[in-house]
Amino acid sequence: MSKAESGILNRNLVLEVVRVTEVAAIAAAKLRGHGNEKAADKAAVDAMRAELARLPINGTVVIGEGEMDEAPMLYIGEKLGGGGCEVDIAVDPLEGTTICAKSAPNALAVLAISEKGSLLHAPDMYMDKIAIGPGYPDGVVDLDASATDNLHALAKAKGVHVSELTACLLDRARHAKIIQAVRETGASVQLIPDGDIAGVIWTTDPKETGVDIYLGSGGAPEGVLAAAALRSIGGQMQGRLAPTDDSESKRAAKMGIDDINRKFQLEELAANDVIFSASGVTSGSLLDGVKFDGDIIETETIVMRSKTSTVRRVRTKFRGLPDSASL
Ligand code: FBP
Repeated sequence: MSKAESGILNRNLVLEVVRVTEVAAIAAAKLRGHGNEKAADKAAVDAMRAELARLPINGTVVIGEGEMDEAPMLYIGEKLGGGGCEVDIAVDPLEGTTICAKSAPNALAVLAISEKGSLLHAPDMYMDKIAIGPGYPDGVVDLDASATDNLHALAKAKGVHVSELTACLLDRARHAKIIQAVRETGASVQLIPDGDIAGVIWTTDPKETGVDIYLGSGGAPEGVLAAAALRSIGGQMQGRLAPTDDSESKRAAKMGIDDINRKFQLEELAANDVIFSASGVTSGSLLDGVKFDGDIIETETIVMRSKTSTVRRVRTKFRGLPDSASL
């Protein structure tokens, strides 16, 4: 058995994982621009769950739609799959519910599958994040350094003037100070309305995307999923949970995080062998969205495996709706 085939995650699983995000993307795309976040999210959840049930795995959801009492499907702890190797599953069936409801760019269907115990069991709360792409010395930026210092260090490592850098952040009032600090260095700020998994992934290809660094707080589950992607493409990332009250800290402790102030490195957010797949729901700078043309449905997916660092782009043409997308 070759290196690529050994281990718990069989390489054939890569295509199975693609199918899962494809059907979720199609299901959500049918509700693009309908102004109904919940309906679009539910469609993606139903489709993803039905397709996951077919996979040859014994999966446990570790990043899901919420805890059992608040999410009827794809809740944390839910067991999925048709039998096979023990794996952890992280899902974000519709990343960017609001952007899908508005038919704006960059809504995705996202999934990661890993060896058991490899993904941080992150509760649904905020996480402070910093991420850059591959090719820089280790530790060139740090979550504990100021935005100013990070931008200057990155510019030096890249061999450019700081004014040539762009930082991506979610457009939120809570980021006002970081945005001001970045602008004061002379660097540019790209503000996104939602969807920070894509924001982190953009840093891995600044020539294409124009984004050099991701900064700010967003969902912790999205942080783990973005880390799963970076494990394959390369890059550096750190995250720290940012609870907004005591009950969130308690929830984190219940999920096994004993030090709420701990700064997690990329390898702690997503360790070992992990497969990451994202399919475009609406078109954006990472992926094309689902195209409907009569009976033909076309999807675009990016799928990666950390063990081999393989990154594939898959374009699929379906004749008619796949079963799991028509629930
Ligand atoms: P949803 O798809 O769950 O709406 O998440 C979108 C998102 O923008 C994430 O990408 C991001 O991590 C999080 O919301 C940020 O949360 P908030 O909107 O509270 O700032």
